[in-house]
Amino acid sequence: MSSGDRSEWAQQYGPWAVVAGGSEGVGAEFAFQLAEAGIDLVLIARKPDPLRETADRCRTRGVRVRELEVDLTAADAVTRIAEATSDIEVGLLIYNAGANTHSAEFLDGDLAAFERVLDLNVRTPLALIHHFGGPMRLRRRGGLLLVGSLTGYLGSARQTVYGGAKAFTRIYAEGLWLELRDYNVHVLELVLGVTRTPAMARAGLNFDVPGLRVSDPAEVAREGLDQLSRGPVHVISAHADSPALHATADRANAVLASHRLMQKLLSGGIPSR
Ligand SMILES: NC(=O)c1ccc[n+]([C@@H]2O[C@H](COP(=O)([O-])OP(=O)(O)OC[C@H]3O[C@@H](n4cnc5c(N)ncnc54)[C@H](OP(=O)(O)O)[C@@H]3O)[C@@H](O)[C@H]2O)c1
Repeated sequence: MSSGDRSEWAQQYGPWAVVAGGSEGVGAEFAFQLAEAGIDLVLIARKPDPLRETADRCRTRGVRVRELEVDLTAADAVTRIAEATSDIEVGLLIYNAGANTHSAEFLDGDLAAFERVLDLNVRTPLALIHHFGGPMRLRRRGGLLLVGSLTGYLGSARQTVYGGAKAFTRIYAEGLWLELRDYNVHVLELVLGVTRTPAMARAGLNFDVPGLRVSDPAEVAREGLDQLSRGPVHVISAHADSPALHATADRANAVLASHRLMQKLLSGGIPSR
């Protein structure tokens, strides 16, 4: 399958796709673009209203949509998702949910809340890939897409655990890509920079910092789906020249420079030192 050939998506990634974190922002755009390609959808999120809105928008494209109100950090999340999909063939898993849920300096933060960041970004996606990936390998077709972050390339204050988790999934995705490349199961870690999602707007991000590149969710989803057949890692093109990607030698300077930019982005939310 050639990269970005949408007429072949249903054959490679259908008949059903699961989008974990599929109600808002990039997740909603993944869902809509897959619906336009004729792929049925299982959309997962916590808040029912945006979930219903996105599901209805996808249904207008003539596909079947299941709405699953599941907290992906809950201990029974994977069991519930497995039960709700036991009668369908899932050819694509997109794991989009995963913004930082505990933004605190490590020693001042709550350890249980940091562990939930790991649940959302590591434990649950691994379990879902283990569950859905096996049948894809047997069928010799499918796709697994994890949404990552530039934060996984360079340490950030108040994002120690989140950044570490995103670094983990990037390396994990590279290894998985190697393991599945002969089985026609596409694996991609899609690395996002700052993106104008509802979650980030609610978190009060200052998108207007001069010189800051801000991506649009629909463009990010389009680029991600177009790159899925290539794998294993793709940085959204608007952010491909980020200094975080090229900081190999002087890590202290690189981390401090990135820290100063983050301070502006978060409007002074990080203590300045
Ligand atoms: N936006 C950015 O600037 C940016 C930058 C770099 C990387 N990223 C990455 O892009 C992805 C999407 O981020 P986002 O900004 O859209 O925020 P997000 O909070 O991850 O929300 C995305 C979707 O996931 C759902 N979700 C979040 N937590 C969930 C949970 N515990 N259980 C079930 N569903 C959950 C949300 O719906 P509910 O809230 O209703 O559950 C929503 O549909 C994340 O992986 C993030 O790390 C984003």
